[in-house]
Amino acid sequence: MALKIVALPGDGVGPEVVREGIKVLKAVEESFGLQFDIVPYPCGGKHYLETGEEWPDAAFESCRTSDAILLGAIGYPGANLPDGDLAGAGVVFGLRFGLDLYANVRPTKLYPNVRHKIHDVPKQVWEPEKVDFVIVRENTEGAYTPIRGSLRRGGLEELAVDNSVTTRKGAERVIRYAFELSSRRTGAPADGMKRVTCVDKSNVLQGCRLFRSVYDDVAEEYPGVERDYAYVDAFMQWMIRKPETYDVVVTSNLFGDIATDLAAVLQGGMGLAAGGNIGDSHAMFEPIHGSAPKYEGQDVANPMATVLAGQMMLEWLGETKKERTLREASHAVEAAVEAVLKEGKPLTYDLGGKAKSSQVGDALAEKVRILAKSEE
Ligand code: IPM
Ligand code: MG
Repeated sequence: MALKIVALPGDGVGPEVVREGIKVLKAVEESFGLQFDIVPYPCGGKHYLETGEEWPDAAFESCRTSDAILLGAIGYPGANLPDGDLAGAGVVFGLRFGLDLYANVRPTKLYPNVRHKIHDVPKQVWEPEKVDFVIVRENTEGAYTPIRGSLRRGGLEELAVDNSVTTRKGAERVIRYAFELSSRRTGAPADGMKRVTCVDKSNVLQGCRLFRSVYDDVAEEYPGVERDYAYVDAFMQWMIRKPETYDVVVTSNLFGDIATDLAAVLQGGMGLAAGGNIGDSHAMFEPIHGSAPKYEGQDVANPMATVLAGQMMLEWLGETKKERTLREASHAVEAAVEAVLKEGKPLTYDLGGKAKSSQVGDALAEKVRILAKSEE
């Protein structure tokens, strides 16, 4: 059975990293006897400048009928909608809201031989075994709820309002996702405890108070998972100081947006950070680095984040379709990334190497083939 994967390469380096991601998926197809029907659509800010639309009309419907979606990046200099919004963001939000992708899942794992990006930290404290947690960000409400507006634009009396909405249903499903995820994992690196940390600002915000009380209700159902609470401001420093104490972290939309970029620092930077936007019946996977327009067309962007997004996609497909081969393929892709990192070559500039994106993609595809053979 062929799986339909919609590819949305988008802007800047998006098309280059998605090309390498697909290269690795092709190696997976050959090596694991799987079949992917990859359906690409143009989209993003540049596409908007050229055509007046952020993506073709047919693209959303195609995503809705796909098995999974792989997105590159959105955002092009000077590409804005008439109201000032980033052109192309409608693709990301169209998918998140339109397909109800309520859990934004961000694994934060430092692989061996990778240096994290905290300024001037000496080599002996890289300790990869200390960083292995997942941030689960609520993805359909909070401060991203599209109930906003402004009055008297441009004048001295100008006013702008954003509303942050928290619903019991929205909080419950993402918190449940976090507890289910923790139940399947091996616990926090520091003590092996399964733990879900609720990150909020419930000392001030009403929506966060609801979020925390729903967290308490859901936690009752998971006696094997430890409860943990942190205010978001304090969490930001604990995440950097003691990453090993975290297993799964659940938080609201805007806090999660901020925390996940900071978390990428602990795993060697944006070139290695992948994310999944996951709902009950659809999912979209992406590297979280964005379009990086100044590197566009140079074949230098690290494709590993996209390849790891593909790995998350295979894992999710394996779970939802109850298909062991997909799960094995997902392990092989992660092992391929680990193997290249361990060998220390080829690496792109962000990891201290000089290799092209396409060379890293070739090496990863080759590793997948070798790993698949050795498992036969
Ligand atoms: C992310 C991004 C998006 C967000 C932007 C591109 C709209 O920063 O996925 O984290 O704010 O959610
Ligand atoms: Mg973000």
